[in-house]
Amino acid sequence: MEFTIKSGTPEELKRACIVVAVFSDGTLTEAAEKLNAASDGALSAILERGDLDSKSGSTLLIPTLPGVAAQRVLLVSLGKPEKLSDKAFHDAARSVGKALAALPGKDATVCLIDVDIPGRDANWRAQQAARRIAVAAYKFDAPRKDKKENKKGIRKIQFLVAGKVSAALKTAIDRGLAIAEGMALTRDLGNLPANVCTPSYLANTAKELGKEFKLKVTVLNTGQMEKLGMGALLSVAKGAHEPPRFIIMEYNGGKSDEAPIVLVGKGITFDTGGISLKPSAEMDEMKYDMCGAASVFGTLKAIAKIALPINVIGVVASSENMPGGRATRPGDVVTSMSGRTIEVLNTDAEGRLVLCDALTYVKRFKPDCVIDIATLTGACVVALGRIPSGLLGNNDDLARELIDQGQISGDRVWQLPLWDEYHDLLKSNFADMANIGGRFAGTITAAAFLSKFTSSYKWAHLDIAGTAWVSGEAKGATGRPVPLLAEFLISRATAKA
Ligand code: BES
Ligand code: MN
Ligand code: ZN
Repeated sequence: MEFTIKSGTPEELKRACIVVAVFSDGTLTEAAEKLNAASDGALSAILERGDLDSKSGSTLLIPTLPGVAAQRVLLVSLGKPEKLSDKAFHDAARSVGKALAALPGKDATVCLIDVDIPGRDANWRAQQAARRIAVAAYKFDAPRKDKKENKKGIRKIQFLVAGKVSAALKTAIDRGLAIAEGMALTRDLGNLPANVCTPSYLANTAKELGKEFKLKVTVLNTGQMEKLGMGALLSVAKGAHEPPRFIIMEYNGGKSDEAPIVLVGKGITFDTGGISLKPSAEMDEMKYDMCGAASVFGTLKAIAKIALPINVIGVVASSENMPGGRATRPGDVVTSMSGRTIEVLNTDAEGRLVLCDALTYVKRFKPDCVIDIATLTGACVVALGRIPSGLLGNNDDLARELIDQGQISGDRVWQLPLWDEYHDLLKSNFADMANIGGRFAGTITAAAFLSKFTSSYKWAHLDIAGTAWVSGEAKGATGRPVPLLAEFLISRATAKA
């Protein structure tokens, strides 16, 4: 996908398609007004017939419009003018992306950035439009024998604005595209089957990313993890034939003395539950239990693409969770890297076991803050559904930042409490702690477990079990929370500039 931006009016541009926005009450945006005038009111006449659905994001393709040089005109609805919101804009941009991805032809001009959204500026609109349009064109077709013909799809997109084109506007478009490309990597990794996307595959992906973007990449194998005492992580890998990997990727875009932000991703490439075996219905979806890790890859790719001036370290704790003759049993006691012992009451609560050793490991980086990202609990899907990711942590300022950047990016989070009282639920008669906290507050007790390993730095935890994946017809990885993390890092880099 290629984006450019220029200033001007749309009616004389010779393109495969021109995109303009309209409202459900027939009101035209400035660009639509221009096309309407050029076509002697033909555009309004079409709208009056009621061919365009009123919902935001509805589209109508007009094969030719007299007086307009472009081959086609695509109308997109912003819904009711009085309800113009982030969502209406996102809906419109996404639909435009979908429609353009299905059209023949080379180039399109999109007039969307001038639409006034309450509380948002042109840079926000440019970044969001670029991102949503690029994301909508994503297709996962890697493992098909007959690759679907890829001739269709407009890939050269020009944004048109009435006013001057600033450098900030161009930067915003670059950021939007970079985030979309990061999300595409995250989605590819999440969509790949577990027999392909193994811990070693993730390690190789890290090395490739390292080569492309000059990251320092370190991969630890089982022996090296044993030496470090990562007994919790290794207890998860025991049932699997695939060896686990611990991956460290260092992106140094900032000053060398600047404390890094550390992202820690859960990389369970398949979660059967282990001896505490999961039921078989929809178990195929547990290939997405590495989406936390995938979002670390995607975020690093996005920020490296735009050469963001900031130091970020991505850490991925990767293993399969399989049953087997050597697998960890319920009741086994393992020793974590921190030295504390854990009674594994349920082998299906494996994410926290791999993460706790990663969270201990990252202390050595003297981080500015640590954010872990994990498809950690089914309880989070029950509590919050698929709209926000769950947010918990030990620092309210950091949590606030993530909430704010979630609003700005549209990749939202909702905070749950992490009070001391919850720790009582993790008591064990046989070890320093148990790995599960019973039936209640599953998302919180999982985070409470992690918090026992994060007391020496500012920490936030994102439970993405509900947001990293959609089931049903559009089954697949979503690329979240790459937009949130990238936006957070952009805001950090901008704040100190
Ligand atoms: N990977 C799962 C969580 C999950 C469930 C993610 C559904 C996405 C969709 C995690 O490892 C898990 O199995 N958690 C258990 C914890 C329980 C045993 C305390 C769960 O949520 O049931
Ligand atoms: Mn599990
Ligand atoms: Zn899991």
